[in-house]
Amino acid sequence: MTAAEESASHREDRSSRDALRRALVDGRAVALDDAVLHITDDGVARGDGAFETIGVWGGRPFRLDDHLDRLAVSSERILLPPPDLGLLRMEALQLLSDVTVDAALRVYVTGSGARVLTVDHQPAGRHAAHLVPQTAPWVRPVAEYAPAGAKTMSYLPNMVASRAARAAGGDDALLVSLEGHILEGPTFAVCWAAGGVVHAPSTELGIVDSISRRTALEAARDQGLEVVEGAWGLDGLDDAEEVVVSSAVRDVISVRRVADRVFDGPTPVRDALAAAVTARRRSTARISRRRGGRGRPSGRA
Ligand SMILES: Cc1ncc(COP(=O)(O)O)c(C=O)c1O
Repeated sequence: MTAAEESASHREDRSSRDALRRALVDGRAVALDDAVLHITDDGVARGDGAFETIGVWGGRPFRLDDHLDRLAVSSERILLPPPDLGLLRMEALQLLSDVTVDAALRVYVTGSGARVLTVDHQPAGRHAAHLVPQTAPWVRPVAEYAPAGAKTMSYLPNMVASRAARAAGGDDALLVSLEGHILEGPTFAVCWAAGGVVHAPSTELGIVDSISRRTALEAARDQGLEVVEGAWGLDGLDDAEEVVVSSAVRDVISVRRVADRVFDGPTPVRDALAAAVTARRRSTARISRRRGGRGRPSGRA
C-alpha cells in the first residue's frame, strides 16, 4: 500500500468509527461530540439523574427492556418522575437503526428532565485483573437507604475508589461495605466460584442489580451449577478457585488477584459463563436480524 493509500484508508477507518458516535438530546439528533447538556442542568451541576449503559452486539441492544426497567427503578428510588420508557425505547432503536457492529448505548434522564441517548464504541478499558479492596460507605443495604442500588449520574465515589485502587498498584477496586461485605466493582459486578458453587453478593446489600450478572447467573443455573446469593467478607474468597467480573459492555473476565489472594489456576467456570453470556448476546443479534426488523429485541431472558 502506498503512503497515500494508507492515509486514505486511515481516514476511512476514522470516519466509519466516527459515524457510529451519535446522540439524541431531547429527541434532537447530533454527533456524539456535539451532545451537550447546559451547566444549569441538574444532571451536570449536581449529578442529579439516572442512567443506563446497554451492550449493543451486532447492532442489537441486549436486554434493552430490562435496562429500561432498571432505569425506571433507579428514577423511582431517587424520587424522579417515571421516565417515558416507550419514548426511550423508540429513540434507542432509532439511534441504532443502521448500526451493525458492537457498541455501547447510554441513556440518561436528569433531574431537570433532560433526556439523552448516546451510542459509542465499547470502552477499551483496562482489564480488571488485580482488584484492590476499597471501603464503600456510600453503598448501604436496601432496607436502610431508599436510593440504594440506583444507577445515578453521581459516580464520583466509584471513580475515586478506582483511582485509589490504581494508586495502590491494582487495576481497579473491589468495593467492600462498612460491615466488610464484598459488594461489586465501581463499574462492574463481581462473583466467584468456590467448590464449584457460584457465589454472588446479594442485591439486598445495596449494589447495582447488574444485568450481565443476571445473565451469567441464569447461564450458570442452566448449566447445572449451584448459585448462592448472600453476604460474605473478604475471607469468603479464601476457598475461591475463581473470581470473575462482568458488565453490559464487557465479557465475563477472570480476576487474577484480590488484595494478596492470587487466582492463577484454570478458569472453567469463567470460560463456561463467558461462552454462555456471549452466545446469548450474539443470538439476540442473529434472531433480531433474521426477523428482519428493528422490532422488540428478543434478548430479555
Ligand atoms: C456499580 C456497578 N455495579 C455493577 C455494574 C454492572 O451492571 P451491568 O451488568 O448491568 O452493566 C455496573 C455497570 O455499570 C456498575 O456501575
